[in-house]
Amino acid sequence: MELSERTRRSFLKQFGAAGAAALAVANADGLGLAQAASTQPASTPADLKQAATRDARMAWWHEARFGMFIHWGLYSLIGQHEWAKENEGVPLLQYELLAKHFHPKPNAAREWARLAKRAGQKYMVMTTKHHEGFCNWDTQLTDYNAMDQGPGRDLVREFVDAARAEGLRVGFYYSLMDWHHPDGAICKTDEAARRRFVDYTHGLIRELMTNYGKIDILWYDVAWPLTAEQWESERMNEMVFSLQPDILVNNRNLLPGDFTTPEQHIQAADAGRAWETCMTLNDSWGFNRGDDAWKTPKTIVDNLITCARGGGNYLLNIGPEPDGSVPPNSVEILEKVGRWLDTNGKAIYGAERIEAEWTTNLNFTRRGNTLYVHVNFWPGHTPAAEWLDFYKPEVVVAFAGLKPKALSARLVKTGQKVEFTQDEFSLRLTGLPLVAPDQPATVIEVECDGEPATDHSALRPLWPRHKVGISV
Ligand code: GLC
Repeated sequence: MELSERTRRSFLKQFGAAGAAALAVANADGLGLAQAASTQPASTPADLKQAATRDARMAWWHEARFGMFIHWGLYSLIGQHEWAKENEGVPLLQYELLAKHFHPKPNAAREWARLAKRAGQKYMVMTTKHHEGFCNWDTQLTDYNAMDQGPGRDLVREFVDAARAEGLRVGFYYSLMDWHHPDGAICKTDEAARRRFVDYTHGLIRELMTNYGKIDILWYDVAWPLTAEQWESERMNEMVFSLQPDILVNNRNLLPGDFTTPEQHIQAADAGRAWETCMTLNDSWGFNRGDDAWKTPKTIVDNLITCARGGGNYLLNIGPEPDGSVPPNSVEILEKVGRWLDTNGKAIYGAERIEAEWTTNLNFTRRGNTLYVHVNFWPGHTPAAEWLDFYKPEVVVAFAGLKPKALSARLVKTGQKVEFTQDEFSLRLTGLPLVAPDQPATVIEVECDGEPATDHSALRPLWPRHKVGISV
């Protein structure tokens, strides 16, 4: 059953960003929307060509694991996040006035890029045009753009230069949905409008792919109101790859692209398929003055570990203020994450998917045969050590179901060797310090004699069980 346009629109309306996100994710992940399947045609020669170069194109991205997302546009001036126009019903002629009042400080993007670098992020993806339709670059196709309006400069070029100056890869976010273009909605029902709007869209993307040198990622967003066929998404990607042969594209122009884009949640794709979770630092993408729902550095670090555990990437958002300044809370969180990565980066960058069950206290990543045990909540001393040898000597980090044999272990923070014992059920890392050596997570590196993985369910039936009653 195709998701009817009415359902789609009311879904978008009702749930705003989250609804669009859910749609995009559902399309992306093939979660129950037959529509997604019908818009993902069987492999064409172009798909096959893109698939043939995928591993080589994506090598840097898999190594990178952590990127910065930037939502910045006219909506930043309102400060009620990027859906303000639609959510609050701001009349277009009113909204357009914002373009005259957008006066960012020079080279704000340098601050973002330096922050990304300090945070340990390896790439940046900036909104070139969000749903509002305003182009942050010097386009020839509309005067609703940064060069012709308030800024009087090409903000995309500043972004590209800033990212490159810090040695970071460059990504462009581009919203297909457009609330400003006169054909942006009627293109669904009026073929002449569709033709104009698709030409306009392809033309804007062509500019972005032509005028800024090598671009590493094209990050499409919301495809409402057209299907992949109507957007001519195949042709769109072919044009993109002909101009940027090494680029990566996501799946939100309703083709599979190179990677899947779970939004605001972490969901590994099937093995063999690349994925990237995008997430906000508070609850908003665009600057939202009142949004104080900041995640803690601990949550961000654990999310990053969880993405790395599944062999995925984490694209973490900042929503700069109208002048381009990054909200102080975002700076503080990202700097803390960066300090943790300075020590523990080897457990994240280039991490490969590991089949391991996290627990409340522990998370896991791996590179080759090296296992990284991330201790989120340090055990300290347990009084149970008085009665149970298992918890001696002193501080013990233990987990069940490790498949290969552990060969050696050490604390990443201090390099200190860690003693351990292992039987068929459990690995016990012993003699650890009383206080967590690192925050927000302490990492223990364990060399194994094979690819690390844990499996509780295989283990559970094997536990020795005793007669009813107590055995000691
Ligand atoms: C959604 C929202 C949008 C945001 C994007 C980020 O599609 O509509 O505002 O830019 O998600 O992934």
